[in-house]
Amino acid sequence: MTATQLADCDAVISDTDASPPQMKAIVQYRYGSADVLALATLPRPTPKPDEVLIEVVAAAVDRGTCHLMTGTPYLIRIAGYGLFRPRNRIIGLDVSGRVVAVGTEVTRFDVGDEVFGIADGSLAEFATAAEDKLVLKPANLSFEHAAATAVSGIAALEALVDVGRAQPGQSVLIVGASGGVGSFAVQLAKALGAEVTAVASTRNVDLVRSLGADHVIDYTEEDFAADRRRYDLIVDIGGRNSVSRLRSVLGPTGTLVIVGGEGGNRLTGGIGRQLWALVQSPFTSRRLTTFISTEHHSLMERLAGYIETGAVTPAVQARFDLGDAADAIGLLDSGRASGKTVIVTGAACDA
Ligand SMILES: NC(=O)c1ccc[n+]([C@@H]2O[C@H](COP(=O)([O-])OP(=O)(O)OC[C@H]3O[C@@H](n4cnc5c(N)ncnc54)[C@H](OP(=O)(O)O)[C@@H]3O)[C@@H](O)[C@H]2O)c1
Repeated sequence: MTATQLADCDAVISDTDASPPQMKAIVQYRYGSADVLALATLPRPTPKPDEVLIEVVAAAVDRGTCHLMTGTPYLIRIAGYGLFRPRNRIIGLDVSGRVVAVGTEVTRFDVGDEVFGIADGSLAEFATAAEDKLVLKPANLSFEHAAATAVSGIAALEALVDVGRAQPGQSVLIVGASGGVGSFAVQLAKALGAEVTAVASTRNVDLVRSLGADHVIDYTEEDFAADRRRYDLIVDIGGRNSVSRLRSVLGPTGTLVIVGGEGGNRLTGGIGRQLWALVQSPFTSRRLTTFISTEHHSLMERLAGYIETGAVTPAVQARFDLGDAADAIGLLDSGRASGKTVIVTGAACDA
């Protein structure tokens, strides 16, 4: 959709919905690629008893947001996000901002608190979020970096620590190291004392090296599976390598954690690979496993701890204004984004 079309759409919705107070938001009324997104003026959401209302300063995009936009794999629709059209018309998960209202049951936050976490529709000037999906923003973390942290950081933390049980001195292979999850995983693995080998494409080699990777494999020139090296832990985030390829470089008692990977069929996406790993695991000395992220504030607090000490810095590689959020999601959806992409709202510019 062009800028003119976005402006037209904005005007039409503004004229027909006069209920104050209003806000700007990125909406979608049907599933599809980034051109289903439009900037619209809508009523501000009202927090439920266990939610807070946040004045958004920054938001970020992630692969999950792309899946919710396209409605693929179809498993997402069956899981309750809307069979024929998206149930949530405002898109976006990662958020940072200031609390402007609290629900009657909220105990952890007050109006004025600076927070980050996961919201229901963060690509907007205001967003609601469940109290247990938010934490206070560390003072040394900018709103932009905070917005980039929760979704990808949680996945990396769970993959390495809770599921992968990474130990100091272990050799860790991170496949898909340059993306949202991978850029956190490289830094967290280093912070845990591991020797990190990162797999990325040529354009991202310098990025993953700057994040602290000890060794970098450019997969366009080198095959990690052809290497004689064996790893204690493999965190597989991108590229959809087969389980057998990943197993071939796993030490005899090593652990493979499959976080995700794009592609697969339209019904189940990448899940077949994860299931195949779980099926094989009981029949080998290696541990082959996967997980679904736990969107809970306790993980965000742990992440904030790494960020406060400087061990981890969100790898923000691109910034867009709210009105250009469709371009940001298009960039990610096309596979051309690196690290994290942040959306700065109009509210931030006024702040
Ligand atoms: N299990 C969970 O709960 C959970 C949570 C979060 C995310 N995920 C999933 O994890 C996956 C990654 O998420 P993300 O947010 O990190 O996505 P992302 O930001 O798009 O990063 C994916 C990375 O994969 C890399 N890649 C592509 N082809 C590759 C190949 N052949 N070999 C190695 N790397 C390759 C790309 O880097 P290059 O350009 O350098 O190739 C890209 O940066 C997605 O499928 C997402 O749905 C799962």
